[in-house]
Amino acid sequence: MIKKALFPAAGYGTRFLPATKSVPKEMLPIVNKPLIHYGIKECVNAGIFGIGFVTGRAKRAIEDYLDYSPEVEEKVKDSSKAKLLEEVNKMIKKCTFTYVRQKEMLGLGHAVLTGEPLIGNNPFAVVLADDLCVGEILTQMVKLYEKYKCTIVAVEEVDKNEVNKYGIIEGKEIEEGVMMVKNMVEKPDIDKAPSNLAAIGRYILTPDIFNILKNIKPGKGGEIQLTDAILTQAKRGMVLAYKFKGKRFDCGSVSGFVEATNYFYEKEFK
Ligand code: G1P
Repeated sequence: MIKKALFPAAGYGTRFLPATKSVPKEMLPIVNKPLIHYGIKECVNAGIFGIGFVTGRAKRAIEDYLDYSPEVEEKVKDSSKAKLLEEVNKMIKKCTFTYVRQKEMLGLGHAVLTGEPLIGNNPFAVVLADDLCVGEILTQMVKLYEKYKCTIVAVEEVDKNEVNKYGIIEGKEIEEGVMMVKNMVEKPDIDKAPSNLAAIGRYILTPDIFNILKNIKPGKGGEIQLTDAILTQAKRGMVLAYKFKGKRFDCGSVSGFVEATNYFYEKEFK
């Protein structure tokens, strides 16, 4: 069973400057809820209640969001606004949140390795909060994990000219929508990509990933790449790529952020 999830959240969010000078990018709101809210909700719906954050400097707003706020609650109690706090309070009650700081930004793989003390020797999910997903993708992945008990990467097809923004996968289909990973390349040049199947920010990882990350050499951009560690797992045993059912908004980009905002406004406010 998957009981824990790790949220790498130490990045600077430079694409959203100047807002991210003082607001962590994970706290930027899609309408009235910050990005992490959606990611945590997806975890809770998948039965995952142990949530670890790899944070950095200037990220305290995340901890404050995931704690009760008695003054605000007192202020809105007995008013129609009290219900606006219901969902987050439910999450706070159900989950245990733990935090560790990544002191240096040495890549996504390094961030995941920094989270090892929060995870221990357990299989776990990794959620990149700026990929906002609808359709309970983690629930789908947990089910698949129960069947295969190996690392799983959520993938979707992207435009050929966007492959250099993602970890790109080459695989062999073993059942509908499920591929055995044969190769995985971090942000390949457009003409060198093995396919247009891109990893999105949802992974289930087996804990042997930590030892691999400890020994792996820096890859693309001189960073410790999660993609390279997953490829090592694929070569040693089995890794699956899963074409999820649902929709992903790339909220790390301004256009994806606006698209998600419009989607949730239509869905929840109209
Ligand atoms: C990271 C990973 C990449 C993956 C992407 C998904 O890249 O390194 O393999 O495809 O997340 O969003 P980043 O977006 O952090 O540059």
